[in-house]
Amino acid sequence: MAFKITARTLLELGAELIGSDAVALYELAKNSVDARSPVVRIRVQSVLPYSRFRHAIDLVDQGEMPLAEIRQNIEQWILPDAPAGAARPLLAALTGAMDASDFRRLLVEGYRDINFVEVSDDGEGMSLHDLEEIFLTIGTRSRRKEKSAWSDQDDDPSRTLLGDKGVGRLSVMRLGEHLSVRTTKAGESRWNDLAIDWTRFSHDSDALLEEIAVVPEQGPRKENPDIHGTTIRVSWLKGDWTRAKFGEMLNAEFSRMVDPFDRRRGNRLFRITYNDQQVTLPQIPQRLFDLAHAKVSARFEYLDNRQAQLVLDMEYRLNTHKKLVVTLPEVRLVSVTQSRSTRVLRRLGPFKVEFLWFNRLFLTAVEGLGTKSDVQAMVRQWAGGLMVFRDGFRINPYGGGDDDWLQLDKRAFGRRGYKLNRQQVIGRVNFTWRNRRLVEQTNREGLVDNEYKEALVSILQKVLEDFKTFSQNIEDELKQEDLTSVDVLKARVSKSKTEIQRRIREIAVDAPEQAGPLKEVERLVTALASQIDDVDTIIDDYKDERRKFVHLAGLGLMVELILHELGRSSSSTLNTLEGVDKSQLAGKLPAVFETLESQLRTLQKRIETLDPLSTSRRQTKETFTVEDLVQQVVDARDAQAKRHNVAVTISSASKQPWRIKAVRGMLIQILENLLSNSFYWLKQQAVVEPDLRPRIHIEIDQAANSIQISDNGPGIEVAEAEEIFKPFVTAKPPGEGNGLGLYIARELAEYHDWTLQLVGPAGEKVWRRFSLGLIGKGK
Ligand SMILES: Nc1ncnc2c1ncn2[C@@H]1O[C@H](COP(=O)(O)OP(=O)(O)OP(=O)(O)O)[C@@H](O)[C@H]1O
Ligand SMILES: [Mg+2]
Repeated sequence: MAFKITARTLLELGAELIGSDAVALYELAKNSVDARSPVVRIRVQSVLPYSRFRHAIDLVDQGEMPLAEIRQNIEQWILPDAPAGAARPLLAALTGAMDASDFRRLLVEGYRDINFVEVSDDGEGMSLHDLEEIFLTIGTRSRRKEKSAWSDQDDDPSRTLLGDKGVGRLSVMRLGEHLSVRTTKAGESRWNDLAIDWTRFSHDSDALLEEIAVVPEQGPRKENPDIHGTTIRVSWLKGDWTRAKFGEMLNAEFSRMVDPFDRRRGNRLFRITYNDQQVTLPQIPQRLFDLAHAKVSARFEYLDNRQAQLVLDMEYRLNTHKKLVVTLPEVRLVSVTQSRSTRVLRRLGPFKVEFLWFNRLFLTAVEGLGTKSDVQAMVRQWAGGLMVFRDGFRINPYGGGDDDWLQLDKRAFGRRGYKLNRQQVIGRVNFTWRNRRLVEQTNREGLVDNEYKEALVSILQKVLEDFKTFSQNIEDELKQEDLTSVDVLKARVSKSKTEIQRRIREIAVDAPEQAGPLKEVERLVTALASQIDDVDTIIDDYKDERRKFVHLAGLGLMVELILHELGRSSSSTLNTLEGVDKSQLAGKLPAVFETLESQLRTLQKRIETLDPLSTSRRQTKETFTVEDLVQQVVDARDAQAKRHNVAVTISSASKQPWRIKAVRGMLIQILENLLSNSFYWLKQQAVVEPDLRPRIHIEIDQAANSIQISDNGPGIEVAEAEEIFKPFVTAKPPGEGNGLGLYIARELAEYHDWTLQLVGPAGEKVWRRFSLGLIGKGK
């Protein structure tokens, strides 16, 4: 025994699997490309709309209207732009109808012949044997077989093969009930014909597939035996193929079927006619590329040692001209994709991304393109996020219509009041047959969800996120010069305030033990809020616009820093608590809380110091021992260190304890920030390097007045040694870090006149050591 297949199964695989007429037609076009045809001719003839035809049938069946009158109606319904004489055979036949059932039959047959969609090519064609053995085999491996023989080590083959599943052609049954194939190979003397009437594969029948005979036949003699190619005609159409509808399909869908960044390709490949009139596909105007306010390209590729890397090239051109090229090595990609091994990254296969970004507000009328709203409409037509192409052919539906696969609109891309949405982005991702693990769904609606697709999505989101940060930084810089933005800042400050209050409440839920200090923080935030409300009177005291701005900018940034610190100290405390085995570590618990409390106290103080008019409130400095404090910070992370097998060591050269006078909480915060980075990146490095024995070393050097923290993680490129201390610079994925840690750490150091730097041996490409120099008056 074996499975039996009913004939109706075919309907499920074809007519009902595919979601749109455009996709069905596209499947035929792809087959022509696979057959190495340089052109794909699409010919639509639409004489009598389907809805009118159905209506005429109903009229006949009702038997109330005289046949002559029905015929006259039909004549009226013939589309005005139908090819001359195309309706004549139908109308002539109807005139000669003997009775209603004859009329009905002639109408059905006549309709079948005058409306059709035809796809023809000059490809390899099929022999009679091919028709039998390949075309009539559901799930044929004729294309897949060849493609799977291609090896990743080889150069790109000289042909494109889009076919894979062996079912694409079945989608045409969605378009119409009748299919005819006429095909031939070079050298054959005759055409080969196949006709299929899909109504025989009915849901109402139990017939088995094998019982329904479908037989290819020899067709007429060829004029020239050298001719080769295939023509597939679908008739008995099931929809109204009006010019407007077909035009819409070309504009919205077909124009994006082949990579529109390769501007002329679409019209070189497709020759399209509607009722014998030639139609061209719209293409992205070249001028849009020049008008774009930013251009971004990215390559995901492999080094000789097989490691993956991502190279991002960004260019911002709105009111300025700035370029930035960033390379993310594999360890950063492991972090971005939150992978547990490099397997997925290494097998994903190379791909490229390119997109244009437009800020609608800055679009203007352009000579040769039209008015401002024309230009905006042009951007709108092509925008929609990142489309996806394999070997230059579209994988629907990404980056079009309602699709937001990278969650551009939904995600936190709108963070900090700055939006990056789909309507601003015209772009695409290009991959090839090499990305075999990215598999199209059988219904041709996107990629199958698997770990490779997930990695792809994370990497693309990272590209978008990095562009957002890059452009935001430029915008911020430009704004610093723009003194009219005081109101903008004020709004930002008060928005952050609300956010802080929300977070405090969250922390209070997670760590009820800390209710006391948290209440105090909240009280201070409320005080701060009212101070911000009064900000107008404060800044009115500044006669000088620039100083007014600097004051507000400082205030705004400070509020954001506090927000960040609150989030971080709470989550790191919670992480630590999670790993604590309470019975064993009873002695360690106080260290955890003391650290949190110290941090919270520092925060309180920092909120107080926000009051620029008050000189009375100052952070108090106390005298303490550096060794004890370092030990306390390390103890607080003991559980985490055990969990991740990180060996944390402390060394001190001097026998005497090192006593300093400083703000305790601030030093804790500096060390905490550095440790938290080390932990994070050691975890990522361990993924890339499974044999890694993660280490963090803290060296207390009283003689040199410094505390040095080093680890054996991925390190930081020397070229970025200063960059990392700037606000909002982060290599972590969105949500993991907002790039303020080191900025704050250095700010806290500078409060004491200390220095904080990344250091390392000259000549090395990456450095792994932070040096905190405790010189100056804080000593
Ligand atoms: N225009 C054509 N010229 C030559 N051969 C064709 C043509 N159309 C279809 N074929 C043959 O019919 C086979 C079946 O086509 P079909 O689109 O159903 O499957 P496929 O292209 O192999 O895979 P997929 O389902 O992924 O499209 C093709 O593999 C090809 O051998
Ligand atoms: Mg195919």
